[in-house]
Amino acid sequence: MRICVIGAGFVGLATGVTFGKLGYEVVCCDIDKGRVKSVNSGTLPFYEPPLEKELRILVKKGSLAATVDTVAAVKASKFAFVCVQTPSLPSGRIDLRPAKTACGSIAKALKYSRDYIVVVMKSTVVPSTTDLFIRPILEKGSGKTAGRDFGLCMNPEFLQEGSALKDSMEPTRIIIGSLDRRSGDMLESLYAKIKSPRLRTDLRSAEMIKYASNTFLATKISYSNEVANMCVRLGIDSEPVLKAVGMDPRVGPLFLKPGVGFGGSCLPKDVRALKDRVRLEGYESRMLSTLLKMNDEQPREAIRLLENAIGDLGNKRIAVLGLAFKGGVDDVRETRAVPLITGLLAKRARVVAYDPMAMQNFIRLMPTIEYASSVSECMKGADGCIIQADWPQFRKLGKKEISLMRAPVIVDGRRCLDPATIKRAGGKYLGIGYGLQ
Ligand SMILES: NC(=O)c1ccc[n+]([C@@H]2O[C@H](COP(=O)([O-])OP(=O)(O)OC[C@H]3O[C@@H](n4cnc5c(N)ncnc54)[C@H](O)[C@@H]3O)[C@@H](O)[C@H]2O)c1
Repeated sequence: MRICVIGAGFVGLATGVTFGKLGYEVVCCDIDKGRVKSVNSGTLPFYEPPLEKELRILVKKGSLAATVDTVAAVKASKFAFVCVQTPSLPSGRIDLRPAKTACGSIAKALKYSRDYIVVVMKSTVVPSTTDLFIRPILEKGSGKTAGRDFGLCMNPEFLQEGSALKDSMEPTRIIIGSLDRRSGDMLESLYAKIKSPRLRTDLRSAEMIKYASNTFLATKISYSNEVANMCVRLGIDSEPVLKAVGMDPRVGPLFLKPGVGFGGSCLPKDVRALKDRVRLEGYESRMLSTLLKMNDEQPREAIRLLENAIGDLGNKRIAVLGLAFKGGVDDVRETRAVPLITGLLAKRARVVAYDPMAMQNFIRLMPTIEYASSVSECMKGADGCIIQADWPQFRKLGKKEISLMRAPVIVDGRRCLDPATIKRAGGKYLGIGYGLQ
């Protein structure tokens, strides 16, 4: 059976590779010819090593290929998964233009197909989008009726970059929102070999589940930041405090790490989008507004710790380690490195930055700062260093790197280092929720 995936990005390629590994024939469609070429040569257009390894195997076997011809690919498939981007517009609303174009192509294919093709929204879209925006595009463009002539489902994706394939092959839950029973049954049987818990819902609930999940994660991160900010002012290390909070099974230990805030392509945009969506219904979510404000301000906490330790930042050389939105990825979408470095520059600091994988992507965002080609080069002569992303190699910072600094002050913006190791290596360790007031 053939499955078509529209949008060869993180979600599209993780979905395509997952279904390829489950034994289906997969066609990935993208409007970007470079991406299509890259996928057909078994190379990912982003850094995600385990996914790339499996992609290469499937392409070699001939069970996964990419194309720019979405109409032909959908016509020859039983399922069409929509995995295009839904980025924020300046208002916070999501930009549905990529989804509109993708669904326009699907509608053309539906028009000439005799099969009952199931269209599955995997892109994150605010509640009612699938029913009130996507469905009319499909119905008008095809002249057919959803739920009778073709299927329509909403199947949110919960993968995390850095573990995309594992999360996609072993999801924490499979949410199947469907317009009609038949398309829901068909989608559920497609996932038959994956043994994760599943939940059947309507389209709107499936859309909301994704937003409720991501706003909860954003809340957990902001809560940790708030506890850490309070702890440091009370002379308490937040680490054992948050660890103890997470020992309560009602809370759980994950996402309870303080830092410079949440970034990436999902959490900030999903919080903004849900806030905007409910405002359309006359509801002002004070919680979501506060979350966004707290997150905007959190990078300042790292700058404050640094200033308290070394004084005025004017003309001081500050090393920023980690530019991706988190360690282990090369994605710089909404990375906290931007407000952090902007804040340092506003204080007239001289910033030198380094990231093992995300440098090329980041240079496009901030072309005029100084970049180093290694951790050592970055730290050489620095008056202070801020860790912005938790790359494993930063955890190995030791005497060699610290002795290169002019003043050995390390601000751990992700609480990923061991304070004792830094101190033994001659450094002064400060972290979000740890150290100076
Ligand atoms: N990245 C994540 O970690 C993640 C996790 C869960 C959910 N999501 C959601 O999944 C969706 C996709 O995210 P992503 O990170 O994979 O995006 P992405 O930007 O990495 O990839 C989107 C791809 O779609 C392609 N595209 C755009 N319009 C197209 C069209 N008309 N036809 C064919 N291809 C088209 C783009 O060229 C791009 O390659 C978003 O709604 C996002 O919020 C993302």
